[in-house]
Amino acid sequence: MKDYKNVTIFDHPLIRHKIAILRDENTSMKEFRELVEEITTLMTFECLREGVPTVEKEVKTPLEVCTQQVVKDNAIVIVPILRAGLGMVNGIHVLFPSARVGHIGLYRDEETLEPQEYYCKLPSHIEDKLVLLVDPMLATGGSACDAIKMLKSHGCKNIKFMAVIGAPEGVSRVAETHPDVHIFVSTLDRCLNENGYILPGLGDAGDRLFGTK
Ligand code: PRP
Ligand code: URA
Repeated sequence: MKDYKNVTIFDHPLIRHKIAILRDENTSMKEFRELVEEITTLMTFECLREGVPTVEKEVKTPLEVCTQQVVKDNAIVIVPILRAGLGMVNGIHVLFPSARVGHIGLYRDEETLEPQEYYCKLPSHIEDKLVLLVDPMLATGGSACDAIKMLKSHGCKNIKFMAVIGAPEGVSRVAETHPDVHIFVSTLDRCLNENGYILPGLGDAGDRLFGTK
């Protein structure tokens, strides 16, 4: 895969360790859910290194008053792509409990692999916010590209996309279609199979999170 300026692939031993457990077909639904949340929290730490709206605040320590940088109130909106993106929301909420949540519902047509939209509900004034779009799987990139297009049509200008596992095809497609969106992927897998599943991957993230298979 090309080296894209707007793509960050994590190469961290702790994340690699957690992903190895996540992939295992014997990992329980409970553990899978917990791991997705933990990995999301670790990714958020790096994802928010730049571009976070901050304000100055005076803080009185026991010794003196100082000026500190704090994250602006109500500056971040989390947008999961349904269903599987829901599994990442708590991983960000532990850091920003008051972040509002918008929802974009997309499912992949099993034949064409094209995303089909079925739901969109976003918080008001989302155009002024830093939007963290989340989905554990970035396969062909169709869902992420459509979700970003929907956010842009609502005026969003500051969008970051986080996925746990990415396929090179999907990462390239999103990076090239939306060069203004920074993409954070915790690990880059080998390729897609003939059914559009990521290899080695972890199977169907939605089914594993919600026990639907
Ligand atoms: C999965 C996944 C992404 C999409 C990725 O969702 O959570 O949204 O596939 O594939 P793409 O990059 O090829 O678009 P799915 O459509 O299976 O829906 P679900 O989350 O409801 O299971
Ligand atoms: N969606 C998933 O849940 N898993 C894949 O491997 C590809 C798309």
